[in-house]
Amino acid sequence: MNLYRKFSLMAVFALGLFAVQYHLLTTWWVQGVRSEAPLSVVRLSLDRLQLSPELTAAVSQEHLRRIVEEVSQQMVQVLPECVPVAAATTARPKVVEPLPPKLYIITPTYRRPEQQPEMTRLSQTLLHVKNIKWLVIEDAAAPTPEITRLLKRTGIDFEHLVAPMPAKYKNKKGSKPRGVSNRNKGIEWIKANAVDGVMYFADDDNTYDVRIFEQMRHTKKVSMWPVGLLTKFGLSTPVVKNGKFRGFYDGWIAGRKFPVDMAEFAVNVKFLLKRPKAAMPYKPGFEEDGFLKSLAPFDPKEVELLANNCSEILVWHTQSKKNPPSAPLNETLYKDTNLIELKKHMV
Ligand code: UGA
Ligand code: MN
Repeated sequence: MNLYRKFSLMAVFALGLFAVQYHLLTTWWVQGVRSEAPLSVVRLSLDRLQLSPELTAAVSQEHLRRIVEEVSQQMVQVLPECVPVAAATTARPKVVEPLPPKLYIITPTYRRPEQQPEMTRLSQTLLHVKNIKWLVIEDAAAPTPEITRLLKRTGIDFEHLVAPMPAKYKNKKGSKPRGVSNRNKGIEWIKANAVDGVMYFADDDNTYDVRIFEQMRHTKKVSMWPVGLLTKFGLSTPVVKNGKFRGFYDGWIAGRKFPVDMAEFAVNVKFLLKRPKAAMPYKPGFEEDGFLKSLAPFDPKEVELLANNCSEILVWHTQSKKNPPSAPLNETLYKDTNLIELKKHMV
């Protein structure tokens, strides 16, 4: 083989390699397909080369080794770029899961020093619960702007309503029907707007383990579970034996058919809608019992037992220490300080 032919063969081979590399960096990369094609082209070229004794002799084994090394090095540099693209294109299509049954959470609340922290805590708990409608109902003449802002910040699907306690109860001495006008407003809203799902009374002074929301949303009629930090017994709960309802354990039975706490039960919305008399009585201490009785026909034996057959506490009636109202500020002394702004938000 003359020198000219040797050089032209080597030039063709070099051009081929260049094309392979170029192919690697463009088509293969852009398509994001992790393909064996460029490697097989190189392998094929090398095989052909070895089949031609003339060319093999011309391109020494040492040269061939170096060329192969260089190509594989370039491939290693390209591969990490390609892998995520390849993974993205080969990822399985996202399966759209159907939404779980909707939860209608009724929260009565009222203006006091503890309102903002209680509502902050509750809202940030509810941020972990999907498919909810949060009915926040204030015992007030008009919505509190701080609460409206808090609700909007969360991004939760909410309804901000007001339902002041009727004056005849408000001005009365002794225990009052706390949160009853609010809850009745919530029940009315559900009757007018909901068709299915589950409703729950979540007072603003409780602590909730989010697992209870996932369990209660499958309630068929009425479900129940233990609530901690109540009365001298430390809890209120259905009594369960061999997986069956056997009665109630509560520090204050008082002849109630349903001696339970407000946070202890959830009700199926379809079930509720079939009971037009469903409402809460303005009867301090007997609100839960009165409401559950208004769901007749319904017997305690039909209760669905949650929280692992009522063996776990997932809700606590925490309550906050009552704080005195914030003392007025000396606005002359603290003129132009942060205290002016801070005090605007104090109760
Ligand atoms: C709970 C129940 O919520 C009462 O309905 C029930 O009478 C009482 O237990 C009981 O079984 O003896 P309690 O926890 O003592 O009442 O009262 P709070 O926590 O002060 O109020 C309950 C809910 O109503 C809270 O979400 C609170 O923010 C709200 N509330 C309270 C009002 O909307 N207005 C008020 O004047 C007081
Ligand atoms: Mn309470």
